[in-house]
Amino acid sequence: MLRLPIYLDHCATTACDERVVAEMLPYFTRYYGNASSRNHAFGWKAQAAVEEAQQRVAALIGAEPGEIIFTSGATESCNLALRGISTLYAGTGNHIITAKTEHKAVLDTCKDLERNGMEITWLDVGPNGQVDLQELRSAIKPATILIAIMWANNETGVVMPVHEIGDIAREHQVLFFSDATQAAGKLPVDVKAAGLGIMAFSSHKLYGPKGTGALYISRRHPRVKLAAQITGGGQQNNIRSGTLNVPGIVGFGKAAAICREVMSDEAVRLGALRNKLEEGLLQLPEVYINGYGSERLPHVCNASFGYLSSNEILSALNKDIALSSGSACTSGSLDPSYVLKAMQVPDLLARATVRFSLGRQTTGEEIPLVIRQVTHTIEALRNSSPAWLLRD
Ligand SMILES: Cc1ncc(COP(=O)(O)O)c(C=O)c1O
Repeated sequence: MLRLPIYLDHCATTACDERVVAEMLPYFTRYYGNASSRNHAFGWKAQAAVEEAQQRVAALIGAEPGEIIFTSGATESCNLALRGISTLYAGTGNHIITAKTEHKAVLDTCKDLERNGMEITWLDVGPNGQVDLQELRSAIKPATILIAIMWANNETGVVMPVHEIGDIAREHQVLFFSDATQAAGKLPVDVKAAGLGIMAFSSHKLYGPKGTGALYISRRHPRVKLAAQITGGGQQNNIRSGTLNVPGIVGFGKAAAICREVMSDEAVRLGALRNKLEEGLLQLPEVYINGYGSERLPHVCNASFGYLSSNEILSALNKDIALSSGSACTSGSLDPSYVLKAMQVPDLLARATVRFSLGRQTTGEEIPLVIRQVTHTIEALRNSSPAWLLRD
């Protein structure tokens, strides 16, 4: 049975898996101890649960449990990483290399650091959405303390050449940080193989609860240190003080364990559905898939529909299908996405973009319906658009 509306906005967030919720529940009402309480069984139980979650989350990304600290989400993790490293390594250098297509959690933090005296190199990307490795190499200088490049883009799903970037970072002995929020739990992520010193990710993108994230901090080769940004009780090795969100952390752990089990089959299934969706959309004239031909997350499709606007498409569809434009909404008008701009997508097309992101609950039945609905909507909108009717 098809249930409307169909949810195709899994890059924004995912439903918490019911197995995750079941595992979290006792930690609200029965095992409610503070994980820092060392003198009684309530505290020990909470601490044991946090340690198990650390193991599960670490296993998802090829890290050691002691290399995981928990945060409130990837935004916080990115902030802790960028600010913590800039502060601690200030004596060594003041230069960070990042890319123009990063999520705002990295972009705006880097802009803030720039205002405070850091030098930031903003790498361009090609039309394929990826940074040029030669440009990256040329940008490295003696003052470079960090390369910050995301694993996979949240708008287009384009995957960066992370392993090659890791090799370059190692070669130049520069620390490598990646925002892997969209990749973790979806693609094989191995922090050691990728040469990462530090990595941010989030629970709610991988079928865990909202409000919980993680930061991987390498302990060996390299041993990474951060200046604490949140001070207080000294929890989590003094890096991130504050009472641990035990139910959220337990949920994140369970979600990570499930992803490890199902991730590779899920990627194949969703990749096939995404390809079917794209085939269907491409039957329409003037449709462009952004990032097509690049390595992409298997569940993401970012499509531009010529002669229309994202707003009108989304408004016409939102009763039946939950989608997103993938670009920021300012003062009621949709700005063209900075990610698509950086990929040299013309403004008019960038303003006519819709992101379809599939997920664990997406069924094979839904895709033909989505294709039919979108096709019908695009045709109807174009048939009442002077720009379309008067085109050459
Ligand atoms: C690539 C990327 N980084 C960071 C974030 C922020 O994550 P959180 O919602 O956990 O703060 C998101 C969420 O949309 C994202 O897609």
